[in-house]
Amino acid sequence: MNNPKSHPVSLHGKRILLGVTGGIAAYKSAELARRLCEVGAEVRVVMTKNSEAFISSLTMQAVSGNAVRSETFDEEAEAGMSHIELARWADVIVVAPATAAFIARLTHGFADDLLTTLCLASESKIAIAPAMNRVMWSSPATQNNINQLRERAITAMGPDSGDQACGEVGPGRMLQPEEIVRQVNELFSSEALTGLRVLVTAGSTWEAIDPVRGITNLSSGKMGYAIADAAVHAGADVTLVSGPATHPLPNRVANVIKVTSAREMLEAVMTHLDGQDIFIAVAAVADYRPQTQAASKIKKQGEEVLRMEFVRNPDILAEVKEKVPDLFSVGFAAETDNLISEARKKLLAKRADLIAANSVSGESNALGSDYNTLQLIDRAGVVSLGPALKTRIAVDLIQEISARFHARGTLQSTR
Ligand code: PMT
Repeated sequence: MNNPKSHPVSLHGKRILLGVTGGIAAYKSAELARRLCEVGAEVRVVMTKNSEAFISSLTMQAVSGNAVRSETFDEEAEAGMSHIELARWADVIVVAPATAAFIARLTHGFADDLLTTLCLASESKIAIAPAMNRVMWSSPATQNNINQLRERAITAMGPDSGDQACGEVGPGRMLQPEEIVRQVNELFSSEALTGLRVLVTAGSTWEAIDPVRGITNLSSGKMGYAIADAAVHAGADVTLVSGPATHPLPNRVANVIKVTSAREMLEAVMTHLDGQDIFIAVAAVADYRPQTQAASKIKKQGEEVLRMEFVRNPDILAEVKEKVPDLFSVGFAAETDNLISEARKKLLAKRADLIAANSVSGESNALGSDYNTLQLIDRAGVVSLGPALKTRIAVDLIQEISARFHARGTLQSTR
């Protein structure tokens, strides 16, 4: 079940911020943007002032399908997506071509234009495709800068060697767009969940009383959707089964199944269970449903107290583990009191590999909030994540899940 599968050569759903700086190789940036889009990436282009001498922003807009940005303080563009949001948006920043001057400014942490500011403000991977005259490339200054960038885990793609625009021959030519795309793809192939299939449940469930009434809870979908999105970011093939939720669906999760009740959620999960490597149950599933669902709206009969019978819903997490005992499964525990001890009970009762416990009381109520704090509980102990934005917590949780999943694989194979 948990053998890594081969990584598809695709950048589907990847968000690539393509930086273009001012060198003659900028004419190849249009071809690069086109090829990135062709393999499924979403591309947003940021150009430096100097690059506009070599290629027009209109060309880059046409090939990327998105408006090009070059000003840090462009009021209209900032209103749509601020430069900080743009920095967070990117899965990777690829600067191609990267001139000697840009490389120097990146090395020394300048934030004197939009592109350098984004590089400084982003926690994403950064890759550069240097392009310059061979003497500039070989100069001790540039080589020192490149070495410093490598130490900071910034990837230098190329340069290539050969005929140069200045008439000389040697190292300094920008790699061909096709080769840059291949290397960008490689950046993602070492990701935490590359080649794995992950099934996530999220949102609430709605248990009907009659055609217009039902019982539900306040789950917004934010936590589960952020986890599904973070799993895609980490290279997984993600299926999301979502109950009712107020938050917009994550747009880069390709396979989304919308359900209403707990029984529908169980059916959807069971239908998509085959071939999954990891199951993450984030949904707030109703434990009980009304015993009967009236076909017509229930009328007031004048009674002071209305009694209703409830029956147990299936426990999706427990049933999944029953059906596929080897599946790496992660449950959530939403508790008002005794967070850790209650979560430990759930870890055992549902035979989960990991439980992420969160509080749903008072000021730290995770329901509907943009923020959360998680206590990760497994047989080895407790690890805390947050408090932080759910989008941030989700990324860290995926790393924790990946580490445990891969460690388990190693243990099993050496048994
Ligand atoms: O959607 P948000 O507003 O972002 O809020 C996120 C959240 C607080 C809902 C989420 O972080 C969370 O805690 N989800 C689980 C809530 C819950 O129902 O916990 P539980 O203790 O009742 O269930 C334990 C585990 O069993 C959960 O993984 C749940 O998905 C699963 N379960 C529960 C009942 C059931 N019938 N089937 C299940 O699979």
